[in-house]
Amino acid sequence: MITIGILGTGRMGVRLARMFGRVERRVILGSRDIKRATEIVEKLGLGTVSAGTYEDAGSADIILPAMFLRDGMLETLEPLRDYFDDKVYIDISNPFNDTYTDFILPWDTSGAEQIQHRFPKTRILGAFKNVWWEVFDEPIFGETLSDVFVVSDDAAAKETFSKLVENTPFRYIDAGKLSNARTIERMTLLSGELGQRYGYFPRMNYKFLGEVWTPGQSAIV
Ligand SMILES: NC(=O)c1ccc[n+]([C@@H]2O[C@H](COP(=O)([O-])OP(=O)(O)OC[C@H]3O[C@@H](n4cnc5c(N)ncnc54)[C@H](OP(=O)(O)O)[C@@H]3O)[C@@H](O)[C@H]2O)c1
Repeated sequence: MITIGILGTGRMGVRLARMFGRVERRVILGSRDIKRATEIVEKLGLGTVSAGTYEDAGSADIILPAMFLRDGMLETLEPLRDYFDDKVYIDISNPFNDTYTDFILPWDTSGAEQIQHRFPKTRILGAFKNVWWEVFDEPIFGETLSDVFVVSDDAAAKETFSKLVENTPFRYIDAGKLSNARTIERMTLLSGELGQRYGYFPRMNYKFLGEVWTPGQSAIV
């Protein structure tokens, strides 16, 4: 069975471990402090999730670092670089500053591209960037599944990912190339601002609406 290594036991890491564990994926939840990871895993009470160090999680088949770029994520991952070669790396990062008011990266790049640049042999796939942590606690809005936008330049990584997320409570949208992460990450900045304005924060997400349309279908012009 494929193992997912999650590095970081914050809001996202723990919720993603729980989501994957609930659909019977094998997860190693890694922390700088194995005692913290062990306590969390005990609380989760899922036989599919085990606790470990970052090295343990980094040696899993698929890796998912759940930490902030602003907290030195690239430097933290540097000693693990050999573990990442040829692996699918699920990147959930949004390059927020400390006050969540802006990004620490300019418009012409993204967290996903910076990680790909730093670890060129890793197969980066961006996902869950647009899902705020609280949504994982109650993922369905009424009867509506919300969307996760998925970006990668690696078609095989997208296939691996779509099998991995089977039975999880989201709709997954193929959002194209890795550099589309520039847009997806900034959509999160926008949803954070809108959520605050309308009193939804942090319980909001996107849904892409559409119907198949054929030319000549419009009635007016
Ligand atoms: N929060 C959201 O709603 C949300 C939504 C989408 C994407 N994201 C992205 O997901 C990633 C994680 O977000 P989060 O909200 O889960 O963060 P968080 O609650 O702050 O947790 C981050 C984790 O990173 C680890 N870490 C490693 N080095 C660290 C350092 N120097 N300082 C602090 N923590 C360090 C820690 O885990 P250990 O102590 O176990 O090592 C910590 O618990 C970020 O890239 C963020 O942009 C977040």
